Amino acid sequence: MAAAKKKKPEDLRSARWFAPDDLRAFGHRSRAMQMGLAPEDWVGKPVIAILNTWSEAQPCHMHFKSRVDDVKRGILQAGGFPMELPALSLSESFLKPTTMLYRNLLAMDAEELLRGHPVDGVVLMGGCDKTTPALLLGAISMDIPAIYLPAGPMLRGNWKGKVLGSGSDAWKYWDERRAGKISDDDWVDVEAGIARSYGTCMTMGTAATMMAMAETLGMSLPGASSIPAADANHIRMASECGRRIVDMVWEDLTPKKILSREAFLNAITVAMAVGCSTNAIIHLIAMARRAGQDIGLDDFERASRKVPVIANIRPSGDKYLMEDFFYAGGLPGLLNEIKGHLHLGAMTVTGKTLGENIDGAEIYNTDVIRPVANPIYKEGALAVLKGNLAPDGCVIKPSACAPKFLKHTGPALVFDDYPSMKAAIDRDDLDVTEDTVLILRNAGPQGGPGMPEWGMLPIPKKLVQQGVRDMVRLSDARMSGTSYGACILHVSPEGYIGGPLALVKTGDMISLDVDRRTINMNVSDEELARRRAAWKKPEPRYERGYGWMFTRHIKQANEGCDFDFLETGFGAPVAEPSIY
Ligand code: FES
Repeated sequence: MAAAKKKKPEDLRSARWFAPDDLRAFGHRSRAMQMGLAPEDWVGKPVIAILNTWSEAQPCHMHFKSRVDDVKRGILQAGGFPMELPALSLSESFLKPTTMLYRNLLAMDAEELLRGHPVDGVVLMGGCDKTTPALLLGAISMDIPAIYLPAGPMLRGNWKGKVLGSGSDAWKYWDERRAGKISDDDWVDVEAGIARSYGTCMTMGTAATMMAMAETLGMSLPGASSIPAADANHIRMASECGRRIVDMVWEDLTPKKILSREAFLNAITVAMAVGCSTNAIIHLIAMARRAGQDIGLDDFERASRKVPVIANIRPSGDKYLMEDFFYAGGLPGLLNEIKGHLHLGAMTVTGKTLGENIDGAEIYNTDVIRPVANPIYKEGALAVLKGNLAPDGCVIKPSACAPKFLKHTGPALVFDDYPSMKAAIDRDDLDVTEDTVLILRNAGPQGGPGMPEWGMLPIPKKLVQQGVRDMVRLSDARMSGTSYGACILHVSPEGYIGGPLALVKTGDMISLDVDRRTINMNVSDEELARRRAAWKKPEPRYERGYGWMFTRHIKQANEGCDFDFLETGFGAPVAEPSIY
């Protein structure tokens, strides 16, 4: 169907570069011709940026090298002019110390690439964990028409005929090896079988969660986020993104027209229903604040109390992976099942509402996508806890931990940094039992730095050998969405800046009550005041460079970990670049 045009060719942003009869526009046109292009390529056509996060250090986006050609095909078919712009690729596997240190750098990269170039709309190509929120953050701030192309999950892993899930089975078999239950050769075979194709992690980790969030927010085509990367449907979806973005430019359908408060509430609802990664909280809050929407931990807490987990996908589920989710009907099927919890009038990139997009979507396997009446967990995937240990909140994923730890009191065993924890954790004489609360601090946004995914602290070896596979662990770090266990994360404010976590001592009794949403250390206010007076600020993490800027401007986890100066409302909006 022809797009309802709101813009004329002379209104296009790119016309500022290409249309004037002046010396600068001469330069732009002559340099376009240097690339072999002719006026027929650009005159009167929307220029569509393709922000491609492909790199040779990014296994999850390997297919983007060719997939970008499918996007270009769609753009050309619809009468647009594609312009591929490489962006920071943020490989969750290889980038150290943690990709979270660089999420905001990619967000800045995306925003400024769009601002500085002659583009009218953008296809955002991402998927591996931080790339989704980062690209969306940049596109929201720039607010030109944008569509998100999710990389899609890789195929199921395989080892000796057993299905392997990204991350989750790495942790599981690592513990089995430490316990002497599998051999070194087995371990090498697991290594070779756990990631069999291009695409993102195929458990409901951060990548799958955030791709589902992008689609629920209305920023991706219906069903796009569930398609396995290696499926031919993914290629067709990519070219459809190209066709659709051209129409979105003519319709002037920008992110801020899509990203209403209702859109974010929908995303939070779906986060709960899919058994989301805990990282979703941080990213959704950051995106909402960029879109000018007031979303916070309380919104997650409200959704958590009423939305059941119905996606039976690991690690919250016990069996299935994203490939199964796709065959079972994917996100549209799940959305239709929980439509009673959704704001169906929210706008999407299709130019239709979410309700129109999912109308008639079916579920083909009710064990993978459960009916609301038969969930895998009756309440939401995440719970927000508060107390004297975390006045600004912390997070636990009750659906992925042993139920007996949902109400627990035990003595703290405190580590100030990861190396000292790693050095101690396998010692036979470590004073620890299954009831101990392992604590790691100075691992938050500033302390990590970058809030690494250390929160699933290893179970001490002597306990692993006794058969223990879960215990309460608490930190100001994050954890991978593929992780599981009684891990309390994102403690805010973090220890490094003097949050109460900095004051805990080994032996203090820690009390956790998920039902009452509380987390406390049983230490008197007077004693805490004494400890605070004696607390010394740790050494600065960086003295120069990007890290220096990061530690000065990063916000806390409960505020989304954006840079303060990138938040909407920090100052006057940034103007279009001058062209002189
Ligand atoms: Fe890329 Fe998990 S490592 S999605």
